[in-house]
Amino acid sequence: MGTSRRNLSVAFIAGLALSASACTQFAANAPSVPQTTVFPVSDVGGLIQGLYELIFWMALVVFVGVEGFFVYAILRFRRRAGDNTIPAQIHGNTRLEIAWTIIPSVVLLIIAVPTIATIFRQDAVPSAGASGEPPMKILVTGRQWFWEFRYPDLRGAPLAVNEVHVPVNRTVVFELRSADVVHSFWIPRLGGKMDVIPTRVNHLWFTPLETGEFFGQCVEFCGIQHANMRVRLYVDTAAEFQNWAARQAADAASPASPQAQQGAVIFQRGACPACHTIKGTSAGGTIGPDLTHVGSRSTLAAGMLQNTYENLTHWIADPQGIKPGSKMRYPNDLPPSPGEAALMAAYLQSLK
Ligand code: CUA
Repeated sequence: MGTSRRNLSVAFIAGLALSASACTQFAANAPSVPQTTVFPVSDVGGLIQGLYELIFWMALVVFVGVEGFFVYAILRFRRRAGDNTIPAQIHGNTRLEIAWTIIPSVVLLIIAVPTIATIFRQDAVPSAGASGEPPMKILVTGRQWFWEFRYPDLRGAPLAVNEVHVPVNRTVVFELRSADVVHSFWIPRLGGKMDVIPTRVNHLWFTPLETGEFFGQCVEFCGIQHANMRVRLYVDTAAEFQNWAARQAADAASPASPQAQQGAVIFQRGACPACHTIKGTSAGGTIGPDLTHVGSRSTLAAGMLQNTYENLTHWIADPQGIKPGSKMRYPNDLPPSPGEAALMAAYLQSLK
């Protein structure tokens, strides 16, 4: 009896110590788990985290209480050696039944009130942001398989693809539309998660409270490249954001190097302009991502590849090998030659 109790206590304390060390490890490694909701960096993320913490601590109390009674009952009322009597047979206990109806009701009520309040708060798109300015509107379009962002209220209506920039401490409202199937927009550390549904406009808003690079992902299965429909959100200082937005609003730079100039000719002459826009040139296709400033992005193919000259050359030469099913195909499936792909990569890399 004494030994088993001691063993149980040792196991319990070891379990607690293990959980505590896991929590510390997790906290120390927060940046290495980029898609987590438990280190929020926005007001809405903080609201959701507040609910999570409330429920977590209540659940912990319930767990320890119920398991405590359970373990106590097992030890206290277990069958002893040599004891063959049948214990008293008990049916029903009104006081106990009332207690275990009322206590869970109260627990659920304590969870329900702040949860419903948070749902309404999150649902109401604010007309003024945290700083008193009107929120910044960003039109988001989900497509198989990339994200497009437009800033209709900013000068020159800048556009971004897969890498969305926002200024810190300014409330942003995303208007979410789909060009094809159902997608879902989620940047876990900023909070939210909202389906992106054809024929509907959904809204998601938050005020980013920290600068940095935050990762997100389409979270509704939308076809075979669903997992490669990633999104990055950059929270910039106000000045950095203005510089970025002004650069994105500008027309494409004219190619400077001889390679880039040759690449531009190949691009314009081939099938590329049928699908891609490069502002300031005659390329005005809307099926694929806008490439006006493709050289300024950190990744290619919705986050699959780092945006380097080598990767871009490879992508242009063999998009179906890298991202099977993507709409990046050539007429009769005849890709450009490796030399042509390299020249076009030099051109596109120059579009900063
Ligand atoms: Cu888009 Cu999954």
